[in-house]
Amino acid sequence: MRGMVFWTISLTVASAQGPVPPHDNPYAGVDIAYGATVYAAKCVTCHGAQGDAIGGVNLRSGTFRNAVIDRDLERFIRNGSTAGMPAFALDAADMAGIVAYLRNMNAFDAATVKTGDEARGRGIFLGKGACTECHRIDLGGSRVGPNLSDIGAVRSAGSLQRSLVDPTSQMMPINRPVRVVTKDGAIINGRRLNEDTYSLQIIDDHERLHSLVKADLREFTISKTSPMPSYKGKLSDDEIGDVLAYLLSLKGR
Ligand code: HEC
Ligand code: HEC
Repeated sequence: MRGMVFWTISLTVASAQGPVPPHDNPYAGVDIAYGATVYAAKCVTCHGAQGDAIGGVNLRSGTFRNAVIDRDLERFIRNGSTAGMPAFALDAADMAGIVAYLRNMNAFDAATVKTGDEARGRGIFLGKGACTECHRIDLGGSRVGPNLSDIGAVRSAGSLQRSLVDPTSQMMPINRPVRVVTKDGAIINGRRLNEDTYSLQIIDDHERLHSLVKADLREFTISKTSPMPSYKGKLSDDEIGDVLAYLLSLKGR
């Protein structure tokens, strides 16, 4: 499975005549498409390509005997059942994908979905995208931005795609950029690695580590705007798909 991840920007989600998913937000097209790859890797052997290979179970219907809301569905997949469904320890990206896919299996058409390529994405990550100027994977790259070695396990495909075109919209609170002025006037701009009531650890723009006591600070400001550039228009939709396929393959160890 590695190397080929399907995704699309414009996939239509549950059509008017289909069952309306009991969920507040529409599922991101990339989550549905990524979920299709998880299904092909882990579920198709028992449930079949049409989702109807097990008697009494029709996954394509989008509604389930054992689950009404998505949280039930996740719990069922995580725990399995005594009637023969194995338990699956899926990471956050895989779970978001499989749920989105199961809810939209009836409307999903693999033929209309573009292909993101993991190897091409890695090339863009290291080359044209210059992501390693700020990010680190395993032992290589910079510490200015967060380490991305396991980003494909902790964030969904939809959220990662939005990170690339609108970083501020997906920024985790701990990753917000900070500016600190110490009592002796030194200015430090960077990112928090750790924070508790009394102290602060910051990695600055030049990858230098600072351990600070809050009582020694004159100023401490946290910004809500991501310092990461948006890649909208800088990378084509296909290139963003390739980078996304690569990010989704980064599942740590
Ligand atoms: C080893 C065979 C097997 C595999 C692999 C498998 N399943 Fe199942 N699954 C079953 C069986 C058998 C049932 C019916 C058991 C029951 O209803 O308790 C079932 C039931 C389900 C149901 C409940 C359907 C309903 O109407 O409530 C869901 C949802 C489901 N599976 C999802 C998945 C997903 C997602 C995967 C892959 C991550 C998967 N299954 C992989 C055998 C399997
Ligand atoms: C100029 C520095 C810079 C460059 C270049 C950059 N980023 Fe970032 N990136 C950051 C910073 C700083 C953050 C933390 C703030 C945030 O989450 O928006 C971040 C956050 C992220 C996150 C979210 C991480 C998390 O833990 O939630 C992802 C994913 C990401 N970047 C991917 C990329 C990719 C892929 C590229 C190249 C196409 C890239 N970045 C290029 C600085 C950069």
